[in-house]
Amino acid sequence: MLRLLACLLMSTALAPFLAAEDGYRLWLRYDPLPETVRSDYAAAFTEIVTPANPSPTVALARDELARGLGGLLGSTVPTATQASRPHALVLGRPNDPAIAALIRESDLRAAGEEGFILRRLATPDGPRTYLVANRDIGLLYGAFALLRHVQARQPLAALDRVESPRIQRRLLNHWDDLDGFVERGYAGFSLWQWFHLPGEIDPRYREYARALASVGLNGAVLTNVNANAVILTPPYLEKVAALARTFRPYGIRVYLPARFSAPIEIGGLKTADPLDAGVAAWWRAKADEIYRLIPDFGGFIVKANSEGQPGPQDYGRTHADGANMLADALSPHRGIVMWRAFVYSPDNATDRVKQAWDEFAPLDGSFRQNVVVQIKNGPLDFMPREPFSPLFGGMPRTRLALELQVTQEYLGQSVQLAYLAPMWKEVLDADTYAAGPGSTVARVVDGSLRLQNLSVIAGVANTGTDRNWTGHVLAQANWYAYGRLAWDHALSSEQIADEWIRLTFGADPEVVATLSRMLLTSRETVVNYSMPLGLHHIMAVGHHYGPGPWVANLPRADWTSVYYHRADEGGIGFDRTPTGSNALEQYAGPWRELWGNVATVPENLLLWFHRVPWDHRMKSGRTLWDELCLRYQQGVDEVRALQRDWASLAGKIDAERHAHVTTRLARQERDAREWRDACLLYFQTFSKRPLPPGVEAPAHDLAHYKSIRLRYMPGNPGGG
Ligand code: GCU
Repeated sequence: MLRLLACLLMSTALAPFLAAEDGYRLWLRYDPLPETVRSDYAAAFTEIVTPANPSPTVALARDELARGLGGLLGSTVPTATQASRPHALVLGRPNDPAIAALIRESDLRAAGEEGFILRRLATPDGPRTYLVANRDIGLLYGAFALLRHVQARQPLAALDRVESPRIQRRLLNHWDDLDGFVERGYAGFSLWQWFHLPGEIDPRYREYARALASVGLNGAVLTNVNANAVILTPPYLEKVAALARTFRPYGIRVYLPARFSAPIEIGGLKTADPLDAGVAAWWRAKADEIYRLIPDFGGFIVKANSEGQPGPQDYGRTHADGANMLADALSPHRGIVMWRAFVYSPDNATDRVKQAWDEFAPLDGSFRQNVVVQIKNGPLDFMPREPFSPLFGGMPRTRLALELQVTQEYLGQSVQLAYLAPMWKEVLDADTYAAGPGSTVARVVDGSLRLQNLSVIAGVANTGTDRNWTGHVLAQANWYAYGRLAWDHALSSEQIADEWIRLTFGADPEVVATLSRMLLTSRETVVNYSMPLGLHHIMAVGHHYGPGPWVANLPRADWTSVYYHRADEGGIGFDRTPTGSNALEQYAGPWRELWGNVATVPENLLLWFHRVPWDHRMKSGRTLWDELCLRYQQGVDEVRALQRDWASLAGKIDAERHAHVTTRLARQERDAREWRDACLLYFQTFSKRPLPPGVEAPAHDLAHYKSIRLRYMPGNPGGG
């Protein structure tokens, strides 16, 4: 508390110029640039020119530029419909011959449907900046890109940039329920006020859409994959249509989950069998009804025969039968089906991580062209670290989408700092070898590996009604990073962190350097104090927040922790080599060799693939037990380093956000200790070895940690 007060006092004394901040403005702040750089940019943007009678999207681009440049330059930049001054900023499309004459044909081709061209050109009327796109949405994306360029204080003179997204459909998946609860949502309740829709449009919907467009996201699945058929009833479709209308100018389409049993639940049919003609007709009529209301409706997402959800297997049919039936209903309207591969059957005795492959790989080639099979990054379930899902290499004749989890279900939720871009890059850059070396997951997903014409990426949203949108102010970085990677997966985690920090906290070199270090190390820190060395799924039951390595005896073995770590006196780890479950066989040869050999497997996946004795020699020369203990300790130490780093920024960051993060980091430190102590005391019952020097003694005994019961955790279905 004293420290907090000291921080507050210091920040008031040292930085009277810093305004109080609650995080609502995200990365779209546009506070004035320092005087030293402002005048150059002010001279370079004398007016913003858009065609007369602009579309709503072009008007948004113009207004964003006016707001952004006005804020950054500290003075109004006038708008006009004809350029009349040197240094005008001109927005246009190539259907204007004056614009077409200035822009290279090849650039227009490269910009494609959604991209843009930004060029500074010398004209007879003086230098001008051109923002050109084939479609209006490109102008909006370009406006945000130009504002980023200015905020990054990049030179304008040589501005000559063409950008277009690598993936076509860049979606947020909301796990929001109709009652306002967000499954695995840690930032308050659902943004969608269903009761008040369609009549009342909360201003926050537009702010949300603006945030999505600013990073190039172009779709939102509005409700939970654990679906409620009510969303498909006429009154709710009216509400969905109102949201779709609000989002449309921002280039965002809405999508909905399709509960497979909807024909029974809301259609009065006796069956939902996908091969039943009446069922297919019901879905066709439903699709027609949706498109009458929402002409640009994106399509359906389906979680079928997974965790109790209904699906085609209830009728002895396959995932392909189910997906294709829905795809046929949507295809006259150019809609798509995102069919999730997150399946593991209650009556399948094999290793859970093998099951998606077992069910889906044999169906390769049998899905319609407007179906994508949506696969989580790893074969289990958004763990702090997993290898990439082998399915990305196992379905060469199917369109495959990547599903990431922006909300931090297993990485400390909105309490702990975990910047996820490095984790997502791990999977995007992973080589499936599906068509030889270089067949990365990114290339499978963006369609470039096989020149596929439909590409989708999905991120489970971390947004909610909290004033700062994401619960933890620094978790905004994950929303931002997901959008930027969906647009361009070749961006590095470092670049994205750097951008986000400058936009969100300003360009003070110490803030940028310190916060970058914090973000970039944070995910590995969470791994270290929760599930190091390839451990996975050892969290508490239900809410998934804290440790629970002792969890056993649940209705299903593959919901327990003991199923995954397999610790006993002989050792620890899951043998997924040919002597064990052989999940390894689902990967290409180079991975089988590397990961299959205990001497070559990277230690961060050791216990994912191997079961090893406690005295196994690690690369450090230590025993596995000592290494494990020291990793847990390292995780705690790293959280303390995060705290020190953040404390060093007091006075350089506004007091409100500084205090908020300080409080969350203190909780993270406490929770990291709990993870360490709980896991080490529990595993020690098998290893029967002392904690090595350097590891702090646990504060309590094992019984204490086992007795901790957190109730009514946010985002946890079932709650208490
Ligand atoms: C996880 C998560 C569930 C979610 C499921 C899914 O298991 O805990 O809340 O429904 O993933 O992705 O379908």
